[in-house]
Amino acid sequence: MNTDDIPESSFGTHDTGPLDGKTIILGVSGGIAAYKACDLASRLRKAGADVHVVMTPHAKAFVTPLTFQTLTRNPVHCEQFGEHGEWKPEHIELAQSADLVLVAPATANLIAKLSTGICDELLGTIILATQAEVMLAPAMNPIMLEHPATQFNLGVLQNRYRYEIIPPDMGEMACGDWGTGKMASVDTITDMVVSRLMANRSLTGKQILITAGGTREPIDPVRFIGNRSSGKMGIAMADAAHARGADVTLITTVEVDRSYPVVVVETAQDMQEAVETEFDSCDALIMTAAVADYRPIVVSRQKIKKTDSDDIVLELTKNPDILDLLGHVKRKDQVIIGFAAESDDLLNNAQQKLKRKQLDLIIGNDITVPDIGFGSDFNAVVILTAEGTRENLPRMPKRAIADHICNWLANRLANLDHSTVAK
Ligand code: C5P
Repeated sequence: MNTDDIPESSFGTHDTGPLDGKTIILGVSGGIAAYKACDLASRLRKAGADVHVVMTPHAKAFVTPLTFQTLTRNPVHCEQFGEHGEWKPEHIELAQSADLVLVAPATANLIAKLSTGICDELLGTIILATQAEVMLAPAMNPIMLEHPATQFNLGVLQNRYRYEIIPPDMGEMACGDWGTGKMASVDTITDMVVSRLMANRSLTGKQILITAGGTREPIDPVRFIGNRSSGKMGIAMADAAHARGADVTLITTVEVDRSYPVVVVETAQDMQEAVETEFDSCDALIMTAAVADYRPIVVSRQKIKKTDSDDIVLELTKNPDILDLLGHVKRKDQVIIGFAAESDDLLNNAQQKLKRKQLDLIIGNDITVPDIGFGSDFNAVVILTAEGTRENLPRMPKRAIADHICNWLANRLANLDHSTVAK
């Protein structure tokens, strides 16, 4: 087949378009609408995306892998345990490289498997292993769609973080029945994919400074005063802002390998110096780090030896409160966000810190709740604004919380831009 047989999309023909630089996994499951996925694959590629098709074994009964391979100019993946020259399993590599996994058509069978996490073929496994956005375009007979089992499964997926169901259309089915169940049109699916991936560019052009991890205050060459912060929340914040197009600088006590600048520091004073160097040029500072409030007055050059005495006294002095200092000197066009990990009276303490440090937003969490917060990939938080609004986010992945904060930040920065232009 010649790709020119496929109608041109409104996005042009030269591999540039709104999906430039995006990697999309197009999952195709075994329904007659699989033939429309050929057009979809071509449209997404012409919109600029690097499209990798993954077919379920049933899908191959409707369309051949060669068709998709020709249209996408990429190999097509079908086998759960296919031959692969690299050390990393194929499904993990594909899952990690994607910005979005789009399943079109999504059959009742695949939807049922995704709802419970069954991964007995490659597509289901990839979807379970990805942290990308997942969009599903169901296509099936209207009675199958209305079946309580399917409705239940769709409900589960609709509420799953980062999942979106593209509603099926009404019309005549391939089987002759009439009703709702036709896969949404290729135009609708393409538009929804573009707007989902474009929505994530809301921080483009913004300089965002983020801190992560817990500072370490040396006592001697071996020991330090530290805390339980894993840096996961700050790193999730930086990843989320970067994914939205921000120019991110991450100042962290935890080493991470990222494509944006990462400055590794150890102590509160190191962190203060690094943050102050970048602060003037940033649009927003997000202080996720757990900064030690005190440090030893004297750092012993030698390892402190055990003595006969039962007690030892360590004298501490106050560290600078970075957020407090910068909250008081920030410009009107800058936004400052802080975190408050509290063991008691969360709301009151977070509110006081918001005011005292002159923050725009504070995110508070109760560290006494098990399985969230320090070291966990999950958290449950209360978000307070300087304007007095309050929002509770139930237990969810830290990345979901980060995305939520980025949405707020993008809105706030857009409003600040608007008010500057209006002056
Ligand atoms: O006062 P508290 O330490 O609970 O405040 C927490 C918030 O203040 C966090 O955002 C933390 O990054 C920031 N902080 C700071 N400098 C300190 C202590 C905390 O910037 N010395």
